[in-house]
Amino acid sequence: MRVVSGIQPTGNLHLGNYLGAIQNWVKMQDEGECLFFLADLHAISMPIDAAELSAGTREMAAALIASGIDPDRSTLFNQARVPAHAELQWLLSGTARMGWLNRMTQFKDKSGKNKEGASIALFAYPVLQAADVLLYNATHVPVGEDQKQHLELARDIAEKFNTDTGTETFVLPEPYIGATAARIMSLRDGSAKMSKSDVSDMSRINLADDADAIAKKIRKARTDPDPLPDTMDGLAERPEARNLVTIYAALAETDPDAVLADFAGKGFGDFKPALADLTVSVLEPISANFNALKDDATTLDSILQAGAEKAAATGAPILADAYRALGLLSGR
Ligand code: TRP
Repeated sequence: MRVVSGIQPTGNLHLGNYLGAIQNWVKMQDEGECLFFLADLHAISMPIDAAELSAGTREMAAALIASGIDPDRSTLFNQARVPAHAELQWLLSGTARMGWLNRMTQFKDKSGKNKEGASIALFAYPVLQAADVLLYNATHVPVGEDQKQHLELARDIAEKFNTDTGTETFVLPEPYIGATAARIMSLRDGSAKMSKSDVSDMSRINLADDADAIAKKIRKARTDPDPLPDTMDGLAERPEARNLVTIYAALAETDPDAVLADFAGKGFGDFKPALADLTVSVLEPISANFNALKDDATTLDSILQAGAEKAAATGAPILADAYRALGLLSGR
């Protein structure tokens, strides 16, 4: 099992990223060989400030390490340090079809009304994502629901490339939706995903928040006056309540019905303080590690560089196969 996954280097990791992806990545380190990267090349598909991008990339690396990604066990790097990602993207661009990319919902969402003004990179984004995983013959790719379509596309590209070239250059990767991967919503609006781009900082819990800030955000989280039911079915029409129970269960690494078995009949006056204590107990050590590491650019850069060298060595034979399969005389 070879696990490959990436995350955009937005800086500022929040509870949604942690419970939706990172916690799962940390566990996967026990199950297979893992490569994790900061998708800085993907970040330039949208307008971005250069200084913010480099700071965000280091900050996200610090957050991943603080959360338990161990650079001695896993290969941790940023895409831009491994030119093979960009190279393979070009090779795959001969295989990917306009029609396939036109169906990608993320492109439709991100480009909005102004399709003509969208960057080529935004359109080709899923081809780079395919290169990210095919470069390493990934067998399992942990992704959230919203990235499943991109992974399907990676499989389509791999399959067509192999067929067209009459080779078995690429392994078809499986999406891996982890057992604990939770979809965490805003604390202010149970229908919107927790996001770093939400204007209200009260909508999310940041990895860098201290215990007081966490307790305050949970105390002020939107809820309703009703007591908690004894199963999740009873929360179908109560998105904010459901979100808080989901967060509790994900942090406690148990299932939401088990949480409700303990809290059935109680109101948020009881539930919120318990949730705040649990959140602080999980995040406190992570945020301490994060704060100790986040400004140490020298250490972070050397970790990312070492990871990039390992990744490049792993990807090199597969990239060479791809050149060869296409009849490109690359000298590799
Ligand atoms: N597009 C992914 C996201 O926004 C990040 C990503 C880039 C990724 N390359 C990847 C995820 C390869 C999995 C595999 O979440």
